[in-house]
Amino acid sequence: MSLGIGTSLAYLAAAVLFIFGIRILRSPMTARAGNLIAAVGMLVACVATLLEFKGDVYTLLLIAGVVVAGSVVGGVMATRVPMTSMPQFVAAFNGVGGGAAALISFSELYKLSQLPLPEQNFVILLSILFGILIGGVSFSGSAVAFSKLEEIAFEGSVTFPIQKVVNALMFLVAVAAGVNVLIGGPMPVASAAVVLGVSLLLGVLLVIPIGGADMPIVISLLNAFTGLAAAASGFSLGNTVLIIAGALVGASGTILTYLMSAALGRPLSKILFGAVAAAGQKEAEAHDKPVTSGDPENVGSMLANEADSVIFIPGYGLAVAQAQSAMADLMRTLEGQGKDVKFAIHPVAGRMPGHMNVLLAEARVPASKLVDLDDINDQFAETDAVIIVGANDVVNPTAREDGDSPIAGMPILNADHARRVVFVKRSLSPGFAGIDNPLFYDQDRTTMLFSDAKDGLEGVTQAVKNQG
Ligand code: TAP
Repeated sequence: MSLGIGTSLAYLAAAVLFIFGIRILRSPMTARAGNLIAAVGMLVACVATLLEFKGDVYTLLLIAGVVVAGSVVGGVMATRVPMTSMPQFVAAFNGVGGGAAALISFSELYKLSQLPLPEQNFVILLSILFGILIGGVSFSGSAVAFSKLEEIAFEGSVTFPIQKVVNALMFLVAVAAGVNVLIGGPMPVASAAVVLGVSLLLGVLLVIPIGGADMPIVISLLNAFTGLAAAASGFSLGNTVLIIAGALVGASGTILTYLMSAALGRPLSKILFGAVAAAGQKEAEAHDKPVTSGDPENVGSMLANEADSVIFIPGYGLAVAQAQSAMADLMRTLEGQGKDVKFAIHPVAGRMPGHMNVLLAEARVPASKLVDLDDINDQFAETDAVIIVGANDVVNPTAREDGDSPIAGMPILNADHARRVVFVKRSLSPGFAGIDNPLFYDQDRTTMLFSDAKDGLEGVTQAVKNQG
C-alpha cells in the first residue's frame, strides 16, 4: 500500500509521540503525561488511517460503530477497575489485541490465497503465519492468565503427564501446516485455520502450568507477543505505523520480561517449563502447627518499649484493606516517639509493578522512606521489629531454602533476620503463590496479629499512643 505524504507524516508524528510517551513513562512524576502523549499518538495514527481509507460508506460506518463500542467498553472498564485487579485487566486487554492481530492476519491470508501463486509474496505469507501463531497464543494465554488472576479457573499450577511432549507435537503440527501454506500446498486457508486452532491450544497449554507468583512475568511476555503479532499484521497490511507500534510493544515487553525475571531470580525457561517438570510434586501444606498470636495491645507495647528501629513491609493485603493511611499514621506515631521507621518495598509486592509505591504516596509517606529490596536486605539483621502487613510471598524464606518451591530463587525481603516479626493478616492463608510460610511458625520471633490490615494497624497505633 503506498501512502500519501500527509499520511506518512502523520504516521511519523505518531511514532515520535509513542517513543516520547514511552520514554517519560519511566518516572512516576511524568508517567501520566507519557500515557497521554502515547494515546494522542494513537489517535493521530487512527485518524490518518481512516482518512486514507478508500472503502464504501457502509464499511466506514461499521468501523465507526466498532470504534465507539470498543472505546465505551474500554473506558468504562478502565475507570471502574480496582488497582488490585490491574494485572488481569492488562491481561484481558492484551489478549484482545493478540486476538485482533491473529484475525487480521487470517483475513489477509484469505485475501492472498485468492491470488495466483506467483503473485503471493513469501515474506508477507511468513509474516501472516507468524501473526496468526503468536497472536493466537497471546489471546488464549492471556485469557488463561485472566482466569487464574480472577480465580475463575486454572488456579495454581495445572499440569499433566507428557505435557512438554504434547506442546512440542502441537508446535510441529502448526509448523507443518504453515509450511504447507508457504510452499503453495493444497487448502491454504484450512491450513491457516489449523495454525490458528493450534496456537489457541498452545496458549492455554503454555500458561496453565504457570503458578501464581510468576504471573506478572508471563503477562509481560504475552504483552510482548501481542506487540510482535501486531507488527506482523502491520507487515501484511503494509501499515508502517502498526509495524512501529507493534515493534515498540514487542521490544518493551521483552525488556520488561527480562528485567522482571532477572529481578526475581527466575529464569524464563524455569517459569515456562519448570512447573511442567515438577508436575504433581507440590501442594500447599496444611497449617496445623502452633503459632504465637497477639493482639494490638501486645504489639503496641512491644513497639513502644522494645523497638528503636522498625521496618514496615506492605503487601497485597494492604491494598485490599486500603490500610495505607493507617500505616502512615502508625509511622508518624512511632516517629513521634523517636523511632527510626522505614518501608521495605519488594518489586512484586501487591499485584502490579509499583503498587506499594503508589499506595504509600497516596498516604503521603515520603518517598525517601521507601527502600528497595537490594538496599534494605542487609539492614534487617540490625532491626528491632518488622511489621508485615498483608504480605506473604515476598517474605517467604521457602524461596531461599527449598529449591523445588514454586517461588524458588525469587529474592525475598529478609524479614526473618530481624529480632521481632509481626504479621498483620486475617489468617494463616497462603499468599498468591499458594504456599505456606514457615516464618508464621517461628514462635520465638513471630507474632501473628490476626486482623484486617486497617483495623489491626489502627489498633496498634492506639496501643502505641497509650504507652507513650
Ligand atoms: P501475597 O503473598 O499474595 O499475600 C497477601 C496476603 O494478604 C494474603 O496472605 C492474605 O492473607 C492477606 N490479606 C488479604 N486481604 C487482607 C486484608 N484485608 N487484611 C490483611 N491481610 C489481608 O502478597 P505479597 O506478599 O504482596 O506478594 C505478592 C504476590 O503476588 C507475589 O507472589 C507476586 O508474584 C504476585 N503478583 C505480583 C504482581 C506484581 S507485578 N506486583 C502481579 C500479580 C501477582 P489473609 O487471607 O490471611 O488475610
